[in-house]
Amino acid sequence: MLENLKPQAADKILMLMQMFREDPRTDKIDLGVGVYKTAEGVTPIMRAVKTAEKMLWEIESTKSYTGLAGDPAYGAAMRDLILAGAVENDRVAAVATPGGTGAIRQALELIRLASPAASVWLSAPTWPNHPSIVKYLGMQMAEYRYFDEATRGVDFDGMMTDLKGIKVGDVVLLHGCCHNPTGANLTLDQWKVVVDHLAQAGAVPLVDLAYQGFGDGLEEDAAAVRLVTSSLPETLIAASCSKNFGIYRERTGILMAVSETAKGQPVTQGTLAFLNRQNYSFPPDHGARLVTMILNDADLMADWKAELEEVRLSMLGLREHLAAELRQRTNSDRFDFIARHRGMFSRIGANPEQVQVMREKNGIYMVGDSRLNIAGLNAKTVPILAEAIVAAGV
Ligand code: LMR
Repeated sequence: MLENLKPQAADKILMLMQMFREDPRTDKIDLGVGVYKTAEGVTPIMRAVKTAEKMLWEIESTKSYTGLAGDPAYGAAMRDLILAGAVENDRVAAVATPGGTGAIRQALELIRLASPAASVWLSAPTWPNHPSIVKYLGMQMAEYRYFDEATRGVDFDGMMTDLKGIKVGDVVLLHGCCHNPTGANLTLDQWKVVVDHLAQAGAVPLVDLAYQGFGDGLEEDAAAVRLVTSSLPETLIAASCSKNFGIYRERTGILMAVSETAKGQPVTQGTLAFLNRQNYSFPPDHGARLVTMILNDADLMADWKAELEEVRLSMLGLREHLAAELRQRTNSDRFDFIARHRGMFSRIGANPEQVQVMREKNGIYMVGDSRLNIAGLNAKTVPILAEAIVAAGV
């Protein structure tokens, strides 16, 4: 049997992680996988997480199973963090999932069950694992233009033109904030236009919210998902705690499915629990429990918010610094988009050969589409990167 297996195409981001590890150079710079790092190159455990872990060690008395949907307190805390009352709570079904990827996978499985002929519309470009999972599940897929290579902002006209092709019941995957991989984001006014169009077309939004708090702030980054959810009859939300709680390896995510009425919620909730049972039974609990403790304790919450804000501002500072270094070196403002982008990533516009040159010559690792993780930089490496970008002829 196993001899029938064919090698799978490697995930580009994870492949880069491996190449970086194997590079013996000590001055190499990792701008690949989306993991936050301090100026010292460390991905710290956030203070509130560490405190919650200590408390949990003291008070946790069992490791027995939770529920198929995870602890309901986690679902409620995450619902409030993300939606803050944007819709009636009794319309929201929620299940804990292994990370944001688990939430995306379960969302797609839910769509396949409810509407097998639906096309899933993805932004071009998007996180490479989106199309990979859609294809793996054998679902219909379509793309809408998103990124304007010339301005390095959103190609809004192209996006709206392409979205004219959506049919009733299709699903449109939207990045709630901090678009991955481009760093270019819709304004709230543009979101309103998208929402009106989805309403008219009878399409269902699937919002991927993996970076809440990394863009313009915890509340600001949730504005779009709140608008979408309060404006449309149904919304799916796949959210991750990996980045904003820094608990990557704990695999902590959530899938929320908002039904049109409270009457529809129990069947949706039951289906989400069923899907968890089919795929992995009970979802992981440790990370979800820490998140719940933090969100339900005023002191922990305040500390978490303060540290998250430090993280966000440090990335913004690096953006400003890199844009300034490039302004000075190119005597132009053509890299100013780096300061306008939000989140961990920017796609800087290098071609694959230039990306390769920077990797081989300078030991700078970015994804082949020239996505770089801003958080992989520090005050010392920003000028080195700027120099390399200019030398590579970007
Ligand atoms: C990324 O895009 O780098 C992150 O979301 C990590 C991943 O799993 O790809």
